[in-house]
Amino acid sequence: MGEIAISLNNVSKCFKRYRHPVDRLKEILLPGKVRADEFWALSHINLELPKGKTLGIVGRNGSGKSTLLQIIVGTLAPTEGQVNVKGRISALLELGSGFNPEFTGRQNVFFNGQLLGLSQSEIEDKFDEIVAFADIGDFLDQPVKTYSSGMFVRLAFAVATSVDPDILVVDEALSVGDEAFQRKCFARIETIQERGGTILFVSHAAAMVVELCDSAILMHDGELLLYHTPKTVVDKYQKLIYAPPGKVEKLCENIRQLNRDKGQESVATELAKLSANSSVPPAAKWPGVEQAARAFFDEDLQPKNTIHYESRGAEIIDPHILTLGDKKVNYLVGRHEYVYTYTVEFFESATQVRFGMLIKTISGLDLGGASYPFSEKPMQRVEAGRKVVVKFRFKCLLNPGVYFLNAGVSGIVNGDFTYMARCIDVAMFKVQQEGNLSATGTVDLLVKPSVALVESEADPKPKQIELI
Ligand SMILES: Nc1ncnc2c1ncn2[C@@H]1O[C@H](COP(=O)(O)OP(=O)(O)OP(=O)(O)O)[C@@H](O)[C@H]1O
Ligand SMILES: [Mg+2]
Repeated sequence: MGEIAISLNNVSKCFKRYRHPVDRLKEILLPGKVRADEFWALSHINLELPKGKTLGIVGRNGSGKSTLLQIIVGTLAPTEGQVNVKGRISALLELGSGFNPEFTGRQNVFFNGQLLGLSQSEIEDKFDEIVAFADIGDFLDQPVKTYSSGMFVRLAFAVATSVDPDILVVDEALSVGDEAFQRKCFARIETIQERGGTILFVSHAAAMVVELCDSAILMHDGELLLYHTPKTVVDKYQKLIYAPPGKVEKLCENIRQLNRDKGQESVATELAKLSANSSVPPAAKWPGVEQAARAFFDEDLQPKNTIHYESRGAEIIDPHILTLGDKKVNYLVGRHEYVYTYTVEFFESATQVRFGMLIKTISGLDLGGASYPFSEKPMQRVEAGRKVVVKFRFKCLLNPGVYFLNAGVSGIVNGDFTYMARCIDVAMFKVQQEGNLSATGTVDLLVKPSVALVESEADPKPKQIELI
């Protein structure tokens, strides 16, 4: 692994909580009489983040995310343990920090810029760019206390990222901006990533964490439960927030076990694999040498975080993809046809039975699927003890990348309409990169481009050029 940008060694943070505000004063005046309850907001955090990586931080409200960021940034001191940070750090913490509400936006740019270590003339040089990015119009000369939270974060983000930080820390703030602004922020975050910057990023938006981060951590009651790939962490986080209270502790123990099992090395290997499997196709290429890819099966390409919803009378078995010649594959060739198939074993009799499939991107976006039989004609009845083989033939109109599959069976059991079995990310496949593909994005729209050369303005019919 490369240089370490941030390391935390056994960091804990204890807050004192006073039952009455006056107790705080009494404690100072009458030392020895403890009047505060101790509350450990962080306990024994160990973390190493390599330079140039983006780390996502997820966890329930109150799990310690903001406290952790503040300790890294240095606005809070740890009660125990050591923190090491290499490089210039710029932070967008909770709304309000670093800004004076009585000052105008303009004054705050200078005030905040100085806090970030910029000189007056450096801020002047960057001022126009900051204002253009924030794009808050006349509000620039209004006191910040009159801003909406969206305006506020626009200005704060513009200042925080204008200093070319080595390390950027963002605490959730982006979620209050509108979509267009969020897009702009991500573009800027990507620029910082490309320049080799290190980023820490708290977010409740799972897709954002998966899309932007190289790795992620899951916080729970002040404990770092899991440090893993973004997809694994987000899956566990979602399981945790939807778990009934009685099952939380057991689930935490499973997650701790996963964290112990993996070790540092496997995070690095998984990261390498994941970036090799990235769903973002490489930049468009001009048509070149045709390279016929072939579909094949690789055992290592298996989903690691399948979620099985509790079964109600049926089980989905052996989901996989076949070529039209019945060969099992998980490396596919774009624009070819395949069959997604699984077997359903029924433990209870059901009526109005229907089978479903869905293909998703690595960040969880639903791309397309189907349910069968169609609504007018569900399968009238399946008896307990029967097995059914379901097949979905589809054309792989997807660009190179990794994709995940769901499977589900619904029906009426004992008078209730229900999902009888349902699995998320039960299979995965990779669409291979081919030499002659110029498509970009996720979906292959079978685009047929053509180019014509305009000789003169008067030319009624520009000449088509053959590029291949
Ligand atoms: N200054 C403080 N004094 C006492 N307790 C505090 C203080 N700051 C935070 N805490 C407590 O520490 C715990 C962790 O808080 P923190 O703000 O880090 O959570 P969080 O994960 O960022 O939550 P959220 O998702 O709501 O932002 C909470 O129980 C909070 O009440
Ligand atoms: Mg917080």
